[in-house]
Amino acid sequence: VADDTTLFIFGASGDLVKRLLIPSLYHLDRDGLLDDAMRIVGIDLAEHDDASFREHLQAFLADKDAANHAEGRDADLDPDTWAAFAQRLHYRQGDFTQSDIYAEIATLIEAGTSANAVFYCATGSRFFGAIATRLGEAGLLAERDGQYRRLVVEKPFGHDLESARTLNAQLLEVMQERQIYRIDHFLGKETVQNILVARFANVLFEPFWNNHYIDHIQITAAETVGVEKRAAFYDRTGAMRDMVPNHLFQLLAMVAIEPPSAFGADALRNEKSKVLEAIRPWTPQEAAANSARGRYTAGRMGDAEVPGYLDEEGVDPDSQTETYVAMKVMVDNWRWIGVPFYLRTGKRMSARDTEIAICFKPAPYAQFRDTDVERMAANWLIIQIQPNEGMWFDFQAKRPGPELEMDTVKMGFAYKDFFELPAVTGYETLIYDCLTGDQMLFQRADTIENGWRAVQPFLDAWTETADLADYPAGEDGPQSAHDLIERDGRQWHQVGSPTGPGVA
Ligand code: BG6
Repeated sequence: VADDTTLFIFGASGDLVKRLLIPSLYHLDRDGLLDDAMRIVGIDLAEHDDASFREHLQAFLADKDAANHAEGRDADLDPDTWAAFAQRLHYRQGDFTQSDIYAEIATLIEAGTSANAVFYCATGSRFFGAIATRLGEAGLLAERDGQYRRLVVEKPFGHDLESARTLNAQLLEVMQERQIYRIDHFLGKETVQNILVARFANVLFEPFWNNHYIDHIQITAAETVGVEKRAAFYDRTGAMRDMVPNHLFQLLAMVAIEPPSAFGADALRNEKSKVLEAIRPWTPQEAAANSARGRYTAGRMGDAEVPGYLDEEGVDPDSQTETYVAMKVMVDNWRWIGVPFYLRTGKRMSARDTEIAICFKPAPYAQFRDTDVERMAANWLIIQIQPNEGMWFDFQAKRPGPELEMDTVKMGFAYKDFFELPAVTGYETLIYDCLTGDQMLFQRADTIENGWRAVQPFLDAWTETADLADYPAGEDGPQSAHDLIERDGRQWHQVGSPTGPGVA
């Protein structure tokens, strides 16, 4: 059980809070992991008191349950559990850019049973620095008598390398790195954490996990959703900033790091930071040549006709924002030299599919003389992050019959065959870790800056109108993304397929 604390949520009337934060806190409470006295205080400009804040959240969750029910899924909300949880919820109306509310926060902490406090910035990233500064000025970040003060910030952490550096400096002016929890919700996913266990709790993978045996690695986060109701955020952000320096680089780091010397926050984060630092800094010209940007146009998703990005509500008609990005990066270290990492992510692609596809080099010698060497398809290991969580390995086998013919077959591990994957948001682990002071799954200042440093040449290369290619909704990116990988004699692993190319 986490220690008694007060969790202050700035931006409490926003989307993130009702969709992810509150449900995950509710799950932690249901599972008995929160201290009885722990309080949660929402802070925002919206007009609410404790009662209406509780009702607003409950109504949202009840609607979600109704939608779940229609799709045959279980309800999340249990009336008694909710009633007990709701007692923890409080609300203070206030402007977190002004100092008054911070005096009120100090009073609330004093009135509590513990002086521990977590400040959660569920706000736009432009407020993170100001909130930290105000908290600092009000003396709310000083830790006394073994009681903690922690700050949680959401992504995006900065808009580019320079703003990320400025923000880090601003936070570190008023608190220590050990007090800062920079969230990347991909690290809350079981399948992402499992990459470390697969690699380092088994002897089988690691001997092959290097440039001697691996030809290249593809990291994909394909989404079927469009911009949804987030145009105000997304049109300023785009696929690169939204997904690459954070989520995709976290996947890259998990798959590419050296074995940490210990299972602890510092050891793991040192390795992650090192591997991101090893990403070759392209010049802007090289970055342009090694990337493709796309934007979805109208198309079909299943049976539905969907509008193009420029026709989505809230999108600037002159927008030059990408909804798809593909890129090639090289990791210049002993293990990975010469192994390209191809990354891609996009909205309105053909299927929802987050995966890491590892393509191994061919066998060194084709001894089966009568067999068409071309048929010796590569071995692939597919780490399926979501959906259909699991790992699949493609290899060659002899097809029964008098001739020596072979085919690609697969071995697989599906989570659902072994474990129950609880219906959770992925934030539970992260919040619990923050409440218990474990920073292992949070980003450190240097990891963030190394991520932006690798992305910056691409941002520099994309002038206002550079190479924004269209792709119809429901297809997997523009032609330029296929050209990017095909000119290296390789192909994208098919989105939505748990097997490598060449498997029936
Ligand atoms: C968020 C991005 O961080 O991650 C969204 O802002 C994206 O644009 C989402 O849809 C993807 O997360 P998940 O967990 O649904 O794969």
